[in-house]
Amino acid sequence: MLIRSHRSGFDHPLSSEITSRSVYEGRRELLRLMGGGIAGVALATWGSRQAMAQGVTPTARPGKLAALPALRSSVAAASTLEQPTAYKDATTYNNFYEFGTDKADPAKNAHSLKTSPWTVEIEGLVKKPGRYALEDLLKLAAQEDRTYRLRCVEGWSMVIPWVGYSLSELIRRVEPLGGAKYVEFVTQADPKTMRFIDSPVLDWPYLEGLRMDEAMHPLTILSFGMYGEVLPNQNGAPVRLVVPWKYGFKSGKSLVKIRFTEQQPITAWNRAAAREYGFFSNVNPNVDHPRWSQAMERRIGEDGLFAKKRKTLMFNGYEAQVGQLYAGMDLKKFF
Ligand code: MTE
Repeated sequence: MLIRSHRSGFDHPLSSEITSRSVYEGRRELLRLMGGGIAGVALATWGSRQAMAQGVTPTARPGKLAALPALRSSVAAASTLEQPTAYKDATTYNNFYEFGTDKADPAKNAHSLKTSPWTVEIEGLVKKPGRYALEDLLKLAAQEDRTYRLRCVEGWSMVIPWVGYSLSELIRRVEPLGGAKYVEFVTQADPKTMRFIDSPVLDWPYLEGLRMDEAMHPLTILSFGMYGEVLPNQNGAPVRLVVPWKYGFKSGKSLVKIRFTEQQPITAWNRAAAREYGFFSNVNPNVDHPRWSQAMERRIGEDGLFAKKRKTLMFNGYEAQVGQLYAGMDLKKFF
C-alpha cells in the first residue's frame, strides 16, 4: 500500500498449562546456550528433546533456527485447516518498516537486530508491573501451535503456523487494575540495529493498541516462533503479537513494552494517516480502505497471471469467535 506522509509530502510504499519443571529447566538450558552464542546443532537437539518430553511430534523444521516445539492448541478455531504458506514466502515477503519498506528488505536487513538479552516491560495500571526477561515469558505458559490466517491491509494474506500462547496468560499474572481499559504495545526502536528507523515513514517506535477485551480474547497471542522454530528476525523476533481477526499491522513485532492504560492509545498508523487506519482495524470486506477495496485478497504463494483472488471474510474468518466483542458497534464508524 501507499501512504501519503503529511510530514514529507510524498507517497511511501507500504509495502494451560503451567510448563512442567523439566521443560522449564530445559528452556533455561536453551537460553544459556543462546546467551553463550552456541546456536544451530545444540539448539536443534534441545528442541527435539523437549518435544519428546512434552509428547509433541517435532514438526519438520523448514529453516535453520532453534526449534520451538508446540502443543496442539486447545483454543477453539486456533488453527485453520488451510495449507500453510511456504516458509520461504513467509520469511522473505515481510512488512517490518524498521528495516526498509520493500517486502524483501526485512529478510536482507534484520540480521542486525540483537534479540538476546531481551526484556519486555509491563507498566501502567497493573498490580504487578516489572521487567520480564524473555526466558521468563517463554516459561509462563505452554507453547501452542496456532495456525492463523494473516490478512494484510494491503490486500494479501498468508497462513502461518505461529508458536505462542494467549496473551491473556500474561495479563492475568500481572493483574490489571480496575481502571485499565486498553493495552498499548511498544516495539523496539534502536537506531543502531534498525537501519531504517530514521526514515520519515512513521514516528517510531511502532505503537499499537487493543481494547482490554480484545487483548484478553484467547485468540490473541504472544508469539515466540513459527513453523516449529523461534521467530526469524524479520518476522518479529524474539516476541511479537498476533491478532488474527485484525489487519496485520495490529500485530506489532519485537515487543519491548506492554502498558495498561485508561485512555485509548495512539497507534503508529493512526497517527500517520488517521483517515486510512482506524484504531480497531478489524478485517472487514464491507469497509473499503479510502483508496482501495478490501473485498478480495491475494494469497501469497497462489501467484501467477490467472491465479484467482479469494473473498475476504468478515473478521478474517474468525467472526464466530470475536463478533460478539463488537455487538452494537457501527463498524463503519469504528473501522
Ligand atoms: N511491527 C513493527 N514493529 N513494524 C512494522 O513495520 N508491520 C506490520 C506488522 N507488525 C510492522 C509490524 C504489518 S503492516 C504487517 S502486515 C505484519 O507485521 C506483517 O507480519 P509478517 O511480516 O510476519 O507477515
